[in-house]
Amino acid sequence: MSNIVELDAARGTRFEFWARRKAAKSRAEDSAGEVFALRAGKRIVYRIAPPPPYCQFYAYTHHAGGPLTLEWDENIIELSLFYRFDPIRVAEEGVTFLDLQGGRLVARPKVAWPTWCESDPDRPQLRFSPFQAWMNDPNGLCFVDGRYHLFYQFHPVEAEWGPMHWGHAVSDDLYRWTHLPVFLHPEQNLWSLGATGGAFSGSAFVGPDGGLSFYYTERLPAYDLFKEYKEVQKLVVPSADLLRPETNRVVLDNGPPGSAHDFRDPKVWYDAAGGEYRMVLGAAIDGDPAVLLYGSEDGADWKFLSVLYRAPEHFRQHGARCVECPDFFELDGRFVLVMGFVGYTEPTTGRHNLLYAQVGTFDDDRFMPLTPALQELDFGTDFYAMQSFRAKERQIAFAWLFNWEFRKPAGSPYSGELSLPRVLGVDAQLRLTMLPEVGYRALRSHALTQAAAGHFICEPGEPIELSLTGALDGIRIVGRGGDGESFTIAHVSGRLQVNVAEDAGEIEYRSTPLSLENLTVFFDRGVLEIFANDGVVCGTRRTYKVTALTALELIASGATRIDACEGWSYNSVWRW
Ligand code: FRU
Repeated sequence: MSNIVELDAARGTRFEFWARRKAAKSRAEDSAGEVFALRAGKRIVYRIAPPPPYCQFYAYTHHAGGPLTLEWDENIIELSLFYRFDPIRVAEEGVTFLDLQGGRLVARPKVAWPTWCESDPDRPQLRFSPFQAWMNDPNGLCFVDGRYHLFYQFHPVEAEWGPMHWGHAVSDDLYRWTHLPVFLHPEQNLWSLGATGGAFSGSAFVGPDGGLSFYYTERLPAYDLFKEYKEVQKLVVPSADLLRPETNRVVLDNGPPGSAHDFRDPKVWYDAAGGEYRMVLGAAIDGDPAVLLYGSEDGADWKFLSVLYRAPEHFRQHGARCVECPDFFELDGRFVLVMGFVGYTEPTTGRHNLLYAQVGTFDDDRFMPLTPALQELDFGTDFYAMQSFRAKERQIAFAWLFNWEFRKPAGSPYSGELSLPRVLGVDAQLRLTMLPEVGYRALRSHALTQAAAGHFICEPGEPIELSLTGALDGIRIVGRGGDGESFTIAHVSGRLQVNVAEDAGEIEYRSTPLSLENLTVFFDRGVLEIFANDGVVCGTRRTYKVTALTALELIASGATRIDACEGWSYNSVWRW
C-alpha cells in the first residue's frame, strides 16, 4: 500500500469513517487486494479489501489501546468523513477529524477547529455549521444535565443532500458547539441502491418519568426524490451518554385515509391532564398540506385521532405538497402551531417554501386558532424547518438557514447552517415573536467605530450587529464589501424589504406592513438575520456573493428619527 502513518490511540478509541472505491484508472488497480489496514505491531487488527464504488460506513474500536499503523492506498480508496474519539471523554473533547490527503494524515482535534472554521470565508462565525458535508434541519433538540444537545439532518459523505443520518453536537450556551459522533444511520444502505431516504427529521421527548427518547421518520428507499417511498415513524431510546441509540423500533407505519406517502417529522408531548401521549405529523390530506394528530397511552402504540390543521386550498393551488416539520407547543397559556409548506410559491412575491405560525387554544384534541390568518414567520425565507424545545423556562428555536433558491458555490467542504438560537414569545395581538437568545451579548468583541455619523466600519469576516430604536420608517441600511454591495434592508411603502447581491428581481423579499420602532440586524459572513419590532417581524437571508463587509451605512429618510443606535463586532464561537 502506498501510504503509511503512525497513530497513537488510547484503549477504547473508536474510529468511524465512510469510504468508497475510486473509479479505477487501470486494470492493475482494479484487482488490488487490501486497500486500508490498521496494524498494532505486526498484527493487522482491521482491514478493508477494495470497497464497492458506493459509500459504506466502517467503524473500528481499538480495545487494546497503544500505537497503530495506518496503511492505505489512496489510488483505490476514497475516505470522505473520518474521525476518531474517546467514548469516555468525547462529550468534552469532541471528535478529532482525520483527513487523509496526499499521503499524509491531518488530525483536527477541537483546538484546530477555529482555524478550520475561520479559513472558509463563507462560514458563519456565530452560528452552528457541520465540520464538513451536508446538513439541513435541526432535530432532537433537548437540554440534558445542564447541556444543550443538537442533532441535525446530515449527509456525511458530501456537501449535497443524500441518505440521511443524524449528526450530533453539544453546547453549554447554545452558541459554542462541540462536534460529537454521528448518532443515527439510515436503516438500509441507500447508497448501494442509488436511493434517497434514511433517518429523517424528528424531535426529543421527555416522558412523564423524565426519560428521554426521540421520535423520528425513516424514509424507506426512494429511487426518485418525489415518489416510490414510504415513511414510517420510529422511537429511539438513547444510551445513557446520548452517543448512540440503545433501542430503535417502528411505532407507526401507515397514515390515515386521504394521506399519501408524505407522513413525517413527528413532534411528541405528554398531556399530563389526560394522562396520554400526543404526536403531530406533517402530511397532506387529499392533496392539501395538513398536520395530523395521533394519540397513545404508552408512547409506542399510536392511533390516528384527527386532522389537526388542513391548509386552505390556496396553498395546494400554488404548489404546496405537504406540511413539513410541524411544531406544536404551549406558550404563555396558548398553543402555537408552526408549519413549513414545501413546494409553495407565494403568488404576489414569488417566494418559496414559507414558514407559518398560528396561535390558538387546544382543548379536547382540537386546535382552535385565535387569529384569523396564518402568520408569516420569516419574510426572508432562509429560515426553514424550525424546531423548538423547552429549556430553563424558555421556548427556544433553531432553524435551517436555507431555501433551495440559492446554493453554496461548489468547492466548499460543507453546506448548511443553523440560525441563531431564538427565544419565542406571544405578543398582545397573539403573534409569535422571536428574538435571539441573550447569550450573544457575551460574544461581543468591541463597538463598531463610525467614520461619520451612521457610517460604521466593519472588519471583513467578523460578525456584526446593528441595533436601532426610534421612529424608523423610511430607513435604509446598506452593507458593503470590497466586491460591492452585499445587502440592503429598507423600510419602503410601509414594509421591510431585503435584497442581497444574488437577487435578480424576480422574487420580492418583503414583510407584512409595519411601522418600524426597533430593528436589530446581524450579519455573519453572508448570513443576515433581521429582528424588527421586538421580534414580531423577522427576516433571514443567506448570501454567498459578498460575505466580507467593510462598511455598514445607515441612510435615514426625512421622516426617520433614530433615538438610539449601537453597532458591535463579534468574536467567533469556534475560538474558545
Ligand atoms: C425539511 C425536510 C423534512 C425531512 C427532512 C429530510 O427540510 O424535508 O421534512 O424530514 O428535511 O432531510
